[in-house]
Amino acid sequence: YDQMEVRPRPELFDFHGVGMITDFTENWDNIQNFKARPDDILIATYPKAGTTWVSYILDLLYFAHMGQDRQTSIPLHDRVPFLEICEPPMPKGTDLADKLPTTPRLIKTHLPVQFVPKSFWEQRCRVVYVARNAKDNAVSYFHFERMDSGMPEPGKWSTFLQNFMEGKMVFGSWYDHVNGWCEKKQTYSNFHYMFYEDLIEDCGREIDRLCSFLSLSPSPEEKERVKASVTFDNMKQNKMTNYSTFDSMNQTISPFMRKGKVGDWKNHFTVAQNEQFDEDYKQKMKNPDLKFRYEI
Ligand code: A3P
Repeated sequence: YDQMEVRPRPELFDFHGVGMITDFTENWDNIQNFKARPDDILIATYPKAGTTWVSYILDLLYFAHMGQDRQTSIPLHDRVPFLEICEPPMPKGTDLADKLPTTPRLIKTHLPVQFVPKSFWEQRCRVVYVARNAKDNAVSYFHFERMDSGMPEPGKWSTFLQNFMEGKMVFGSWYDHVNGWCEKKQTYSNFHYMFYEDLIEDCGREIDRLCSFLSLSPSPEEKERVKASVTFDNMKQNKMTNYSTFDSMNQTISPFMRKGKVGDWKNHFTVAQNEQFDEDYKQKMKNPDLKFRYEI
């Protein structure tokens, strides 16, 4: 794979009503027919909501005892396969998942809830969904598209924000995503819905909640170690979690571990953009169960 080869930016297209690029639709039949196992744990998010953070927390909770080798030699994206990715010559997400040697399998997805392979529901798999407030989520997604040439060209911030509000994004509308997954919680009980802002506020408390959902009981020392390993600074330094192993990302444009804050949107939204966003938000977000925080 020639790093210097300039691969053109992919174009967004409509896929059953959801914005997509071919990297996430090429392997569609294998994704839809994916065979989940009852002990699989699905980590679902809209892109840039804290996927990597929660993936690493779960990986450490389950596998830290396997020793340092695993932690220093296998990138997190190989330990927690990205179900829908199909970006040759990298292995497909479904193949990586099928070959995982460890149990339980931790599997990451950005699919909107209606696209999740039915086997996960049939097997009653545990599901962890992470949501992040729309404004910070949009800012993070903008910088991510700037630095990852595997994603569509984001254009200027004002253009990107307009597209975000219209749901013209890879993996579709943020509004549909967080609402769709939240509705699933009403009918599917093996489900933990959590928030990026809560993790920022008190990561230890969120680890406790995750442990209680997963029936894990780490010792206080183990828990402290997990907490210390998953700080923003440590994950930014850690080559296995900071995506420095990923060719399509140019971290000199914007690092994958960019800021890790609640409220960075204030440095991006103009007053007018913020007013327009809030007005539009009220129309789209009528579910009273879903309350986001924009500052801590
Ligand atoms: P920012 O771009 O706002 O910094 P994902 O993993 O879903 O792609 O999300 C990436 C976002 O989560 C980035 O947000 C990244 O910095 C943030 N993030 C990752 N690990 C983090 C951590 N340990 N603490 C705080 N934020 C973290």
